[in-house]
Amino acid sequence: MALPKPSPVSNLKLPFSGPQLVYSREDFSGVALPSHVKQYPELRYMGSKNRLLPWIHGVLRTLPFETAADPFVGSGCVAYLLKAMGKRVFASDFLHFPTVLANAAIANNKHQLDATVVKQLLGERKDGPHFIEETFSGIFFTPDDLRFLDRVSANIEGLKNSYQQAIARAALIRSCLKKQPRGVFTVSGDLSRYDDGRRDLRLRLEEHFLEQVAAFNQVVFDNGCRHSVQHSDVFSLKPVGIDLVYLDPPYVPRADDNCYMKRYHFLEGLSCYWKGRKIMEETRVKKIEKPFTPFSYRKTAIDAFDRLFQLYGESIIVLSYSSNGFPDKEELEALLRRYKKTVTAYERPHRYHFGTHGSVERAQVSEYLIIGR
Ligand SMILES: C[S@@+](CC[C@H](N)C(=O)[O-])C[C@H]1O[C@@H](n2cnc3c(N)ncnc32)[C@H](O)[C@@H]1O
Repeated sequence: MALPKPSPVSNLKLPFSGPQLVYSREDFSGVALPSHVKQYPELRYMGSKNRLLPWIHGVLRTLPFETAADPFVGSGCVAYLLKAMGKRVFASDFLHFPTVLANAAIANNKHQLDATVVKQLLGERKDGPHFIEETFSGIFFTPDDLRFLDRVSANIEGLKNSYQQAIARAALIRSCLKKQPRGVFTVSGDLSRYDDGRRDLRLRLEEHFLEQVAAFNQVVFDNGCRHSVQHSDVFSLKPVGIDLVYLDPPYVPRADDNCYMKRYHFLEGLSCYWKGRKIMEETRVKKIEKPFTPFSYRKTAIDAFDRLFQLYGESIIVLSYSSNGFPDKEELEALLRRYKKTVTAYERPHRYHFGTHGSVERAQVSEYLIIGR
């Protein structure tokens, strides 16, 4: 049972103090992952837990739950793990494109794209739209690639089945992520300096797309539960009946920023053909305005974590945390103790492969799972 509602976090004395938490170093290397998990397409997504899935699985399987929420779903790999563990999954994110991936791979229990549908998606159009070509020529990809994106996006609208639409869009998203140097949409123009001969940079987007349709077709399976995917800020959710919540919010980094929109605006736009999105015309790469998240700022992050733990006061909370983020783990433990009687934790070394060489060096961290019950 949840503890009574504590006083506002602003009344707390800083720094926090409390009993020392002992971190288990168990690595669960001997525990087999559910077989489906290995099929999930790895996405170059900032903070993706893909390579930590065996460890996260090892921890999750010790906990009693049937329904699970992942309200910061990102690349979708943890939500997919939860599905593969036989759980009923509630996935959401305040960006739209992660929810497209989650619709394709998690909510979707049976729909795939067969050869006839793929042919329909590739079909030429007489009066198709040219928004992507007109907006992003000279910024990202080749003119031929951009025309391909316009054409397939318009053809996707013609599909009646929303899960098939999601698979097709997921395939476009991963195609673009693979072809874009460094997997981020902050770099543009002449990108020859990044060309190390990699196949992913050489393939046309159409060739990528065909491979990615096959990759996403392969992840579709039915675990016997109906899942839910929502495009929503975590604080707009009304969680009910969630046995366990996996929380992987962004943390305020020690250097740089943690803005997802800045890095992935092109994928966000592509996921809805920029409908209802405001492009910042003055920006070099035609960014979309970023939505506010309190997890990005030192001033608002502590209160946001407090509200987050309160929101999921009825669920087992499993919090992912990296040692390079703010707030620090002692603060997070203390906040969690305001809502949970028992707090336990796991630790393991991890290296994030993201960014330039310099920041990859900095991305040597300890990864934690802090559990409140
Ligand atoms: C660290 S990533 C999650 C990574 C994910 N667990 C994975 O393995 O790919 C954090 C995610 O939180 C989302 N996010 C940030 N602020 C949010 C908010 N206020 N509400 C919902 N989602 C938010 C971001 O869009 C991003 O996808």
